[in-house]
Amino acid sequence: MAAAVTAAVSFPSSTKSTSLPVKIHSHCTRKNHFKKGAKAPAKVEKVSKKNEEGVVVNKFKPKNPYTGKCLLNTKITADDAPGETWHMVFSTEGEVPYREGQSIGVIPDGIDKNGKPHKLRLYSIASSAIGDFGDSKTVSLCVKRLVYTNDQGETVKGVCSNFLCDLKPGADVTMTGPVGKEMLMPKDPNATVIMLATGTGIAPFRSFLWKMFFEKHDDYKFNGLAWLFLGVPTSSSLLYKEEFEKMKEKAPENFRLDFAVSREQTNANGEKMYIQTRMAEYAEELWELLKKDNTYVYMCGLKGMEKGIDDIMVSLAAKEERLRNILPLVFLQELIGLSTKEV
Ligand SMILES: Cc1cc2nc3c(=O)[nH]c(=O)nc-3n(C[C@H](O)[C@H](O)[C@H](O)COP(=O)(O)OP(=O)(O)OC[C@H]3O[C@@H](n4cnc5c(N)ncnc54)[C@H](O)[C@@H]3O)c2cc1C
Ligand SMILES: NC(=O)c1ccc[n+]([C@@H]2O[C@H](COP(=O)([O-])OP(=O)(O)OC[C@H]3O[C@@H](n4cnc5c(N)ncnc54)[C@H](OP(=O)(O)O)[C@@H]3O)[C@@H](O)[C@H]2O)c1
Repeated sequence: MAAAVTAAVSFPSSTKSTSLPVKIHSHCTRKNHFKKGAKAPAKVEKVSKKNEEGVVVNKFKPKNPYTGKCLLNTKITADDAPGETWHMVFSTEGEVPYREGQSIGVIPDGIDKNGKPHKLRLYSIASSAIGDFGDSKTVSLCVKRLVYTNDQGETVKGVCSNFLCDLKPGADVTMTGPVGKEMLMPKDPNATVIMLATGTGIAPFRSFLWKMFFEKHDDYKFNGLAWLFLGVPTSSSLLYKEEFEKMKEKAPENFRLDFAVSREQTNANGEKMYIQTRMAEYAEELWELLKKDNTYVYMCGLKGMEKGIDDIMVSLAAKEERLRNILPLVFLQELIGLSTKEV
């Protein structure tokens, strides 16, 4: 076992939250996989995750859930942000063995309008497999509080997200899972990993990035390129910004970080800065990376981003003379192998 590393999880200074000293001990798609040496992606080799060894799924089901405790719950968006997002850590005592990229189910307390227990909601795990405290005994989530106005003009609060965002340390949390094999990290430590996130879609990528840059593992040392594009509405809603900046300081050659702040930034044409708009600024570099046989693209977040990402990928491909006009969108989707969970 390797040495312990100390990192700090820090949240935007304008929030009411404080920094968390965290000790780390060593211990959201399909993938893009282009043939070696291909000038353009001639054939896509899909890597099925269905039979991934050692990945536990559904250890806990709604009929036999695991009850953990909330250890910590912190608002990570500023008070003036449009909406609230919280980072929370639950105890698992090592009983919920998950991998980076998996999700867990949460069954909120209480009953629904028919008097039945609430159904579970899925949440992408935001911590690496060893958890934020490095002891493999916790799991963390990044949850946006859902509040909307219905057609009758009433304010409606989402059941589970509000249950989670209101949890106090010490409270019980009923969990199921872990689930999902589609968003597992590539095993290749030299891979290029392009991560496209909107809002809380950042969760699985925080788990990847902690493993890559904040932890020491005997059997894994990331030496590839991780490139994160994160889209949020305002700078006051940038999630985990200080953590990511710390990673960049630690590994400037291995980590690239680009934010798209949709309500504050525009491109040269005055268009709203979505992540696909930001990606367009790097069209040539991205296309070169996409042609490599060990480049993997992951996408997680708002369903609506899918079309925009498809469009930017189409425009990247169109730059390749030999592909122009012959790539129907559907083929391109296969080609880039994007994960589209909710998305
Ligand atoms: C694989 C997966 C991973 C996920 N990971 C995360 C995560 O990491 N973080 C996270 O925050 N969420 C995540 N989600 C979403 C999460 O599962 C819940 O759907 C979300 O928290 C809302 O649940 P709720 O119980 O609060 O809302 P509910 O009480 O279930 O209400 C949601 C319903 O409200 C209605 N509704 C919602 N918005 C509006 C609107 N604007 N106008 C009208 N009606 C509306 C819709 O009918 C919607 O189905 C994930 C979902 C999936 C499938
Ligand atoms: N499936 C999973 O694994 C998973 C995991 C985590 C989260 N999620 C889901 O991801 C969603 C995240 O929502 P959120 O409320 O956290 O995000 P948010 O804070 O509202 O941020 C979303 C960002 O995406 C922008 N956006 C809107 N439409 C877009 C489009 N068509 N293309 C690109 N960007 C677009 C928004 O811009 P504007 O608002 O300014 O238009 C905003 O900047 C939730 O629905 C959550 O359920 C899914």
